Amino acid sequence: MLKQKIEQAINKQINAELWSAYLYLSMSTYFESISLGGFANWMRIQAQEEVAHAMRFYDYVVERGGRVKLMPIDSVKTDWKSPLDAFEETYKHEQKVTGLINDLVNTSTAEKDHATVNMLQWFVDEQVEEESSADEIVQKLKLIGKDGSGLFMIDRELAQRVFTPPVKSKE
Ligand code: FEO
Repeated sequence: MLKQKIEQAINKQINAELWSAYLYLSMSTYFESISLGGFANWMRIQAQEEVAHAMRFYDYVVERGGRVKLMPIDSVKTDWKSPLDAFEETYKHEQKVTGLINDLVNTSTAEKDHATVNMLQWFVDEQVEEESSADEIVQKLKLIGKDGSGLFMIDRELAQRVFTPPVKSKE
C-alpha cells in the first residue's frame, strides 16, 4: 500500500508528465506551421514518450493499491521564435523534470519507501537521456546558425525518429 504522501506526489508527477506531452505536442504543431515536418515528427514522438512516462507512474500507483487522480492540465505556449528557441525551452524543461524526479526520490527515501525509490531509478536514467538528446539538438542548431541547408539536413534526421514504448522494469 502506498503512503498518502507518496501517492499524492506521484499523482502530481503524472500531471507534470501529461503537461510535458501537451507542451511537446504544441511544439509539434509549431513546427508543422513552419513546414519542418521532421522537427514536428520528433516533437510528436516526444509527446508520446511523455504519455508513456505518465502511464508508467499510473500503472505503478494501481499496482501498489493506490488511487490515480487526474488533475487539470495547464495551458501551454503555442509559438516560438525559432527552432532553436523551442529546443532551448525543451532542454530547460527537461532539466526541470529531472529536478522533479530527484525531489520524488528524496521524498520516497525520507518515507523509507524502497519500492518507489527503486521504481524511480528508471526515471533517473531516462532523464539523463532526455536532457542529452535535447541538448544535442540545441548544439546542432547553434552550429548551423542561419544556414537553411543545415536546417533541412537536421529536419531530415529528426524525421527518422520512431516511437519505442519504454520497457517496464518488472518485465
Ligand atoms: Fe517525462 Fe521528458 O521527461
